[in-house]
Amino acid sequence: MPTLNVDLPQNSYQIIIEKGLLNRISEEIKKVYTNKKIAIITDNNIEELYGDKIRKELEIDFQVRMIVLEPGEKSKSLEVLEGVYNELLDFQITRGDLILAFGGGVIGDLAGFAASTLLRGIPYIQIPTSLLAQIDSSVGGKVAVNLPQGKNLVGSFYQPSAVLIDPELLATLDKRYFYDGMAEVIKYACILDKELFEDLLGFTERELFENMERIIFKCCYMKKDIVVRDELDTGERMVLNFGHTLGHVIEKQYKYSKYTHGEAVAIGMYHITKNSEDMGKTKKGTANLIKKVLSKYQLPYEMPAIDREKILQTIGLDKKNKGQYINLILIKEIGQVYIEKINNKDISSYM
Ligand SMILES: NC(=O)c1ccc[n+]([C@@H]2O[C@H](COP(=O)([O-])OP(=O)(O)OC[C@H]3O[C@@H](n4cnc5c(N)ncnc54)[C@H](O)[C@@H]3O)[C@@H](O)[C@H]2O)c1
Repeated sequence: MPTLNVDLPQNSYQIIIEKGLLNRISEEIKKVYTNKKIAIITDNNIEELYGDKIRKELEIDFQVRMIVLEPGEKSKSLEVLEGVYNELLDFQITRGDLILAFGGGVIGDLAGFAASTLLRGIPYIQIPTSLLAQIDSSVGGKVAVNLPQGKNLVGSFYQPSAVLIDPELLATLDKRYFYDGMAEVIKYACILDKELFEDLLGFTERELFENMERIIFKCCYMKKDIVVRDELDTGERMVLNFGHTLGHVIEKQYKYSKYTHGEAVAIGMYHITKNSEDMGKTKKGTANLIKKVLSKYQLPYEMPAIDREKILQTIGLDKKNKGQYINLILIKEIGQVYIEKINNKDISSYM
């Protein structure tokens, strides 16, 4: 079974990726947890599809409580978090017990944050179910909830005791969410893995699914490799933000409704590469390759019309802030990422 070790100074753990892993989830959990109580935090969609299965599997060895939330980003709120704290306390959870984050990135972030804060920290395991969660949000220990002022404004770094990934769960994922996750797969390929990029360009739909375990492994490998060198996101980890600066602007401009996160990042990756190519900082033809792969996975690449001043304001650089710098993530060619520190006065050329 494909396994990755995440070796961090305070906490080392494994990421296990295996088709059908949910069928023997209890066995894996017992390797890192020896007490009795488990609180599963999930959403309605996952509960409906996999609730009975996981409950039956775990109830043989553990005392289980299932906390089921509304699906979607609105559940990543302080209000929902408070409800989760109440249910966990009602279950009389202690610091020796375990929380399972069983769902997409919303559940992973919220359950992880609840685990990191209640009783000053309860161990938790990530069982990610969306493609985005399996290749990105479940790895790296960033957990958070949103505030009305913005996304992920209250959060912490809190590493799980394990990340258990069953690629078979993706079979029930809605197509738009699947392609949303593919945008982040494409991002990893663009920044660090030319071979993966070429595979993605060449795969038939069947080959994509046949290779999903390997793709997830490669993405988790790249992320954990960066995380172990920069756990607290103070330097190298920012290369994972390729396409995200413009992506965030687009998401915000359309109030997080018209474009998914992945779609906005897709546009960001193409647009910044097209501009860096025009400036001679990226190998000719790279933007076109990105456009080709994005189109293949039903992702947009065309930049919507957003006022330039608005873009600069949103990224925190406007006319008032002369002399400020921003770190932009660029690629020299497919698979070769680098960080460029750019002065405010030059930023427009990249946007
Ligand atoms: N912590 C991090 O490092 C990190 C990184 C990237 C994104 N995120 C966060 O992740 C969140 C987005 O995650 P997401 O895209 O997984 O969203 P999500 O959790 O809302 O899941 C998307 C939808 O798919 C459904 N779903 C999930 N798995 C399914 C399955 N196997 N079968 C059927 N339906 C399924 C969910 O119920 C939901 O409706 C955002 O809040 C974002 O901020 C966090």
